[in-house]
Amino acid sequence: MNPMQDKILEVKNLTLTVRNKTVVRDVSFELFPGQITALVGESGSGKTLTGLSLLRLFPNEAICKNGCIMFANRNIFDLSSEEMRKIRGNRISMVFQEPFTAMNPVMCVGRQISETIEAHQKYLRKDMLKRLVELVELVCLSRDVLSKYPHELSGGMRQRALLAMMIACNPEILILDEPTTALDVSVQKEILELIDTIRKQRNLSVLFITHDFSVVNMIADSVCVMKNGKIVEKGTKKSVLYNSQHEYTRNLIACIPRLGDTRRRLPVG
Ligand SMILES: Nc1ncnc2c1ncn2[C@@H]1O[C@H](COP(=O)(O)OP(=O)(O)OP(=O)(O)O)[C@@H](O)[C@H]1O
Ligand SMILES: [Mg+2]
Repeated sequence: MNPMQDKILEVKNLTLTVRNKTVVRDVSFELFPGQITALVGESGSGKTLTGLSLLRLFPNEAICKNGCIMFANRNIFDLSSEEMRKIRGNRISMVFQEPFTAMNPVMCVGRQISETIEAHQKYLRKDMLKRLVELVELVCLSRDVLSKYPHELSGGMRQRALLAMMIACNPEILILDEPTTALDVSVQKEILELIDTIRKQRNLSVLFITHDFSVVNMIADSVCVMKNGKIVEKGTKKSVLYNSQHEYTRNLIACIPRLGDTRRRLPVG
């Protein structure tokens, strides 16, 4: 984290309840351009709800009891529906936890990406085709993918197509909710490298949601550790991984498997 750099978004003391149960408690963190912030914690700790809050997309039953989310000098919770529509998919994009539900099964990939673009920008037909080819090539897919349906793609290809869709409008912030959990380790590594390349190319700010500290180790710049809706520890990746102050964090880190070692401990890197 570079303290000299201006933050692009700030979550301040966010508290959410669902049916009177507090599921996000007094959560505060900041996002910076070109930086990957990992939100890590066990299942049910409130990671997805926190991520959805940035787009004001949490479930109907959820109520924001306290706090604010500042983006472009405005509190997200004060914006009108129209102002929010202009931000979603355009300035802040999210790859949702279930990649299959994020894509329309009866629409080819090219159409899905062009619909995302057309929601915010106007293109002539020939320019749109050029833009689609540019986008799929950016995520290292061939242009044939544009005419394919989601079920015709492998898990890794689907995740690349989703990334192309989510960066189509050049967002400033990308939220990725467990983007590699369903993938095998070699494809996971390729997708993480792709995310890293894209954020560097575009100075993109990424909120990377995961339960897996080995993924945090590979990709994050800074880390917020969540437990029961609260951030129990945050800091640079180095400080959280190598000098964690909380036993819960150390237990999550201890879950990282090491090849050829029956004990579990932190990999060097
Ligand atoms: N639509 C909903 N209705 C009721 N409770 C919900 C709803 N969505 C989430 N919750 C509750 O809020 C808490 C946090 O959920 P959230 O989905 O943010 O967890 P998570 O950290 O993303 O978990 P996972 O790693 O399993 O995805 C959980 O206790 C969950 O049961
Ligand atoms: Mg989740």
